[in-house]
Amino acid sequence: MNITVIGTGYVGLVTGTCLAELGNSVVCVDINKDKIESLKKGIIPIYEPGLEELVKRNYKEKRLEFTSDTKSAIQKSEVVFSAVGTPPDKDHRADLTAVMKVAESFGEYINGYKVFINKSTVPVGTSEKVRKIIQEKSGGKYEFDVVDNPEFLREGTAVKDFMNPDRIVAGLRNKNSHAREIIEKIYSPLVRAGRPLLFTDIHSAEIIKYASNSFLAMKISFINEVASFCELAGADITEVAKGIGLDDRIGSRFLHAGIGYGGSCFPKDVKAFIQKGKDIGCEFSILGAVEDVNEAQKTKLVDKLKSEIPNLKNKKIAIWGLAFKPKTDDMREAPSITIINKLLEEGARVSAFDPVAMENAKNIFKKSGVIFEKTSYDAATAADALLVLTEWDEFRAVDLKKVKKIMKGDLICDGRNIYNKKDMAEMGFKYKSIGR
Ligand SMILES: NC(=O)c1ccc[n+]([C@@H]2O[C@H](COP(=O)([O-])OP(=O)(O)OC[C@H]3O[C@@H](n4cnc5c(N)ncnc54)[C@H](O)[C@@H]3O)[C@@H](O)[C@H]2O)c1
Repeated sequence: MNITVIGTGYVGLVTGTCLAELGNSVVCVDINKDKIESLKKGIIPIYEPGLEELVKRNYKEKRLEFTSDTKSAIQKSEVVFSAVGTPPDKDHRADLTAVMKVAESFGEYINGYKVFINKSTVPVGTSEKVRKIIQEKSGGKYEFDVVDNPEFLREGTAVKDFMNPDRIVAGLRNKNSHAREIIEKIYSPLVRAGRPLLFTDIHSAEIIKYASNSFLAMKISFINEVASFCELAGADITEVAKGIGLDDRIGSRFLHAGIGYGGSCFPKDVKAFIQKGKDIGCEFSILGAVEDVNEAQKTKLVDKLKSEIPNLKNKKIAIWGLAFKPKTDDMREAPSITIINKLLEEGARVSAFDPVAMENAKNIFKKSGVIFEKTSYDAATAADALLVLTEWDEFRAVDLKKVKKIMKGDLICDGRNIYNKKDMAEMGFKYKSIGR
């Protein structure tokens, strides 16, 4: 099938590449010309395990193209995916400017029956707005369908998630439309491999995405609050989480206490869901609490640090991990930003290391004085304390005896509970973690 994917970011590039890998002819479009030129040269603008190899192979085998020419891309495909960003606006609602722009282009350039498949996370009612815009722009000359097909991939495992989704959700205005057959055809290789394809009405599909992310964020805030309780009660959150998670009704995932959720999805989606609730007269009190707990959680590690070093002025604090989670370079809403800013406010000297997110982090901490080091050991050298903020495997595997020697102080505050408390004590560290 000829498919166009508009928006070549984390979701669009993975979607386009995986659809090409499944045998389709895919054109990926982006307004960012530099991004398109880099992709044509085989330079992948994001860090995502397994993606580079797939992009290069499908590009070489001519199933994958990159262009900034939206018109020709739309005109040569029967199916147009929109995967543009929906960042928060000033009131935390999803900013739909890019989605509406793509709808306008689709309406303007439509030259026969086509399906507009929205992959972006959009509030309920958006697909209806998209449909109206296309109708207006095209003047009703050609038939078209709009489908809401939310994406559930996770950065860091995006290719694997796209190819092995827990479920594929497709919201249709009319369940008997031709779009249903198209969706069935596109996803047939995944359905044949046993992945469930769920057709819903279009409003429900839009809500499924927000409700899923909000539920997962709720699980994280829940376990973080129980972690605070464990600290006061003298218990260990890792054991409690294991005991809870073995219950099939609960499950063990998203029960890792830490420094709060971040990233480009959970914070913005929880806030946008709350706002949409307000707009239609539904107060999500539970999600307000989820957010409050998360905000408070981000600075708990600094409180732990200050309980040992009350005055941080001129103290050297090493930071291991900047991305909001391992295996990604995405710094959007990373808790490390809040923590580092707090350390800087207190007058600390910050030296940081992350295996892949340093370039993005440098843009955020321009002229802040944060020093970005080449290795985790360089960051830790002569540090008064070390804060672990992202659970990269390489931090689990470091030579902690060497770290003990090169640090000036002996305090490690582990925001991800990656080390064993007993081992740390035996090595002579003062070790603080979350909920243990
Ligand atoms: N990142 C994730 O893990 C993830 C997971 C699931 C869903 N989502 C949702 O998917 C959507 C995209 O997220 P992302 O992280 O891929 O965003 P992103 O910012 O990485 O990528 C968006 C891309 O769209 C391009 N773009 C914007 N307007 C355009 C236009 N008019 N024409 C062509 N290109 C245009 C931008 O240049 C950018 O490259 C969002 O709604 C997000 O909430 C993201």
